[in-house]
Amino acid sequence: MKALQSIQDIQNWSQACKKNGHKVSFVPTMGFLHEGHLSLIRLAKKNSDQVCVSIFVNPLQFATHEDLDAYPQDLRKDFALLEKEGADVVFVPKPKEIYQQGFQTKVDVTELSKNLCGKSRPGHFEGVATVVLKLFNIVQPDLAVFGDKDFQQKRVIERMVEDLHLNLKILGAPIGREYDGLAMSSRNMYLSSEDRENASVLYRSLQLAKERVEKGQMQSSSIIAAVREFIERAHPTGIDYIQICDAKSLKDVVQIKTESVLCLAVYFGKARLIDNVILEPFQQ
Ligand code: PAF
Repeated sequence: MKALQSIQDIQNWSQACKKNGHKVSFVPTMGFLHEGHLSLIRLAKKNSDQVCVSIFVNPLQFATHEDLDAYPQDLRKDFALLEKEGADVVFVPKPKEIYQQGFQTKVDVTELSKNLCGKSRPGHFEGVATVVLKLFNIVQPDLAVFGDKDFQQKRVIERMVEDLHLNLKILGAPIGREYDGLAMSSRNMYLSSEDRENASVLYRSLQLAKERVEKGQMQSSSIIAAVREFIERAHPTGIDYIQICDAKSLKDVVQIKTESVLCLAVYFGKARLIDNVILEPFQQ
């Protein structure tokens, strides 16, 4: 596996791949890789000839009160995992090369960024869309893989690709889960053993919602109320949101009539965990 730091080097690599007729896939990450990331890399590998993974902790997607400096990092372990997984290139740019002096252009996917995490993390998706567009322009992949766990992020990127006529395909990867259903996340390491045990309620609450819809319950408010009550029994530190939205527009729905998604963000201890489940409208 090659480790490249400069924009020029990664562009040369990508162009050489294209010249050789190779299909290039791209998995952007902020490092501290876990099994969830590795499943994205496996999907990328299955769908291309050459896989590039980036590791870049993007300052633009952190608000001032969110601790960018405390973001966990372990490059040595990341490199070992990537090597084992068979990634071809890891791109680890320096912040000053990505955000060069005088940088001022940002990408705002206006509507999709407003709801859900966008409400509690203003500016977050602008930071994500901006860095992802930069990385797409640098790596020039034929396809890029994003996890379904960050459902809103995936939708924001899909919309940006469509709106800006970018010439690449976005693949969504199913949510990687622990033995008890907890979605894999770098944030799980912040959970105490008690909170870790309690946090499995999130997956079970999503299953509960799915079962209710499959039985014909269509009203969002009653499903959300049941999910909230179920989660509260596991003593979370706080519930940021539990919402049911149209899976395309991410606008809240009163009744589940189109493909919808129940998204939640819940705190256990200091860890803010997100998860979601697709809800298909009930058909008789
Ligand atoms: O999902 C992430 O890790 C980040 O938001 C991403 C897509 C790498 C952009 O910084």
